[in-house]
Amino acid sequence: MELHEIAQAAASSSQTPVQERDVERLLSAILASDDVWRVLDLSDVPVMAACELLQELHRQGWVEWNDGRVWLTPAGKKVCQSHGICPAVELRCACCEGSGVELGPMAEVASAFSELAADRPQALQEYDQGFVNERSALSRAAFMWSKGDVAGREILVLGDDDLLSVALSLTGAPKRVVALDIDPRIVDFLTWIARDRRLALDVVHHDLRYPLPPELTGDFDAFVCDPTESLRGFLAFAWRGVSSLRGPGCAGYLGLTRREASLTKWRHIQQELLESGTVITDLRDDFHAYENWSYFERMVAWEKLPTRRVPERDEAWYRSALIRLEVLKEPRCPQEELAGDMFDDAEAATT
Ligand SMILES: [Fe+2]
Repeated sequence: MELHEIAQAAASSSQTPVQERDVERLLSAILASDDVWRVLDLSDVPVMAACELLQELHRQGWVEWNDGRVWLTPAGKKVCQSHGICPAVELRCACCEGSGVELGPMAEVASAFSELAADRPQALQEYDQGFVNERSALSRAAFMWSKGDVAGREILVLGDDDLLSVALSLTGAPKRVVALDIDPRIVDFLTWIARDRRLALDVVHHDLRYPLPPELTGDFDAFVCDPTESLRGFLAFAWRGVSSLRGPGCAGYLGLTRREASLTKWRHIQQELLESGTVITDLRDDFHAYENWSYFERMVAWEKLPTRRVPERDEAWYRSALIRLEVLKEPRCPQEELAGDMFDDAEAATT
């Protein structure tokens, strides 16, 4: 079987877009590591597609697995050789963990942030939660700062299990920070921190399936959001964010992963963002690393994985890119209510 036929077979069994390049990426990752989570991380193939691809490669007699390990058979190694597929190489900068920024002013609040984050509510499957590690949250704030979107600015955080509103407001630099969340535990936690530390932080309970309340519309210089990965969920979150901005010159920050979004979905998202009147000024892949969550064995990908092992809490494999967009002209984005489940689509793996 040719690589493109393997991609087609995995595409039809996973009902998601799979390219020949994904097969190459997966083989390349297996050449570099035999750990299943490391392979998923290195390959950047969406998890659900990678699970189907592994099954196809197994049917061809090219890979074997056991106990959370995956490896190439002699036949698989031969295929790699004949296609010129080499081991994946990761050259992440050890100083900045790949974010490309120093913490700068955020370093001064790092220990206070860490102390507060120690008591954070744990991630809930019900809300598709899973938070970035502390360094990623601080790096995101530092990056925003370097873009002129923090000091003296009014910032809206849409969904804040990452506690970004805390990191930002601890510095005292923003004029105002408002955090929205659907989870009463997060709302209570952030409200308590804001009072205890006397921060310029307001916390609002809000379900992002619904448009923003009028008092939060057209009122901010920047928004930050780590949306759910289904296409309609992602865009709904992005449009809520854009609707919070004053207008041209204002900025939005969005997280987008390869783990649950194919490049086909990335392309749709980029097209929609551009058409709405915004421009993507920055796209930094693998900017965020996530802490592993407690509902691992209940997520949809668990049953699909050919071989399983629960990773350690701080064993990063789930990463996402940071996208910065800037409003260029009066944005046009739909603000309808979303009915039903907005988390699931065929690429959703951790819901
Ligand atoms: Fe670096």
